[in-house]
Amino acid sequence: MTRTAIVTGAARGIGAATALRLAADGYAVAVLDLDEAQCADTVTAITEAGGRAIAVGANVADAEAVESAVARVAAELGAPTILVNNAGILRDNLLFKMTDDDWDAVMNVHLRGAFLMSRAVQTHQVKAGWGRIVNLSSTSALGNRGQANYAAAKAGMQGLTKTLAIELGRYGVTANAIAPGFIATDMTRATAERMGISFEDFLAGAAKEIPVGRPGYPEDVAAAASFFCSEGASFTSGQVLYVAGGPRA
Ligand code: NAI
Repeated sequence: MTRTAIVTGAARGIGAATALRLAADGYAVAVLDLDEAQCADTVTAITEAGGRAIAVGANVADAEAVESAVARVAAELGAPTILVNNAGILRDNLLFKMTDDDWDAVMNVHLRGAFLMSRAVQTHQVKAGWGRIVNLSSTSALGNRGQANYAAAKAGMQGLTKTLAIELGRYGVTANAIAPGFIATDMTRATAERMGISFEDFLAGAAKEIPVGRPGYPEDVAAAASFFCSEGASFTSGQVLYVAGGPRA
């Protein structure tokens, strides 16, 4: 039986690498992002590699959009029993400059998005008696200057993960979180731009602080997601795995 996975924010970056990896692991994958057209590259990469995927446009913070996206995946690919809550945004600002909208936007995409997606997908997981939820946290959950909103959301993802693990365990569903450190993606590229440094210098600077001496890549996170989704991880639940090239943020 082919299991079906949904990866949110999978048009690019960590989500795209995770979608590709899960497809290579043998799952049918729904590549979900804000609009369907954005997902084309990831879907093409999966199908060219011999996998099965569809593009799904939805805003994860919108309850109706989430419900219809999950229903569409169930109809077109099969009941989704694997969910990777990866969609995310940054609205960095020091607290005194952080607007209400900066706060709400970040909470809505990360936390409300993960809540809505998990609630919609658990119906299928409970019915199947099997499921995997992987939530993207961050080393920023430990606190990070300029990220009151993002740090709170990413710490919230850990509490959400542990509670999903407790509530859904009896149905064969595990929930785990990945907390990446510095990963080279468009998100960190935008941070470099905002700070007025070239991405190359930003990567080199980050690498100096990382014990393994290099920045992380989306595939590093995808490998951890692959493990959490595997059969072998059925007794691993409610955990937070820091994928940061070392023990500290
Ligand atoms: P990215 O910015 O490259 O990709 C994020 C994707 O999410 C984009 O395709 C975007 O369109 C999509 N997205 C945003 N809002 C959405 C919404 N409301 N509904 C559906 N899709 C939406 O980001 P990246 O770097 O790949 O990050 C992925 C996840 O990993 C995020 O949750 C991020 O917070 C987390 N993370 C990233 C780190 C990094 O260093 N890049 C470090 C730690 C965590």
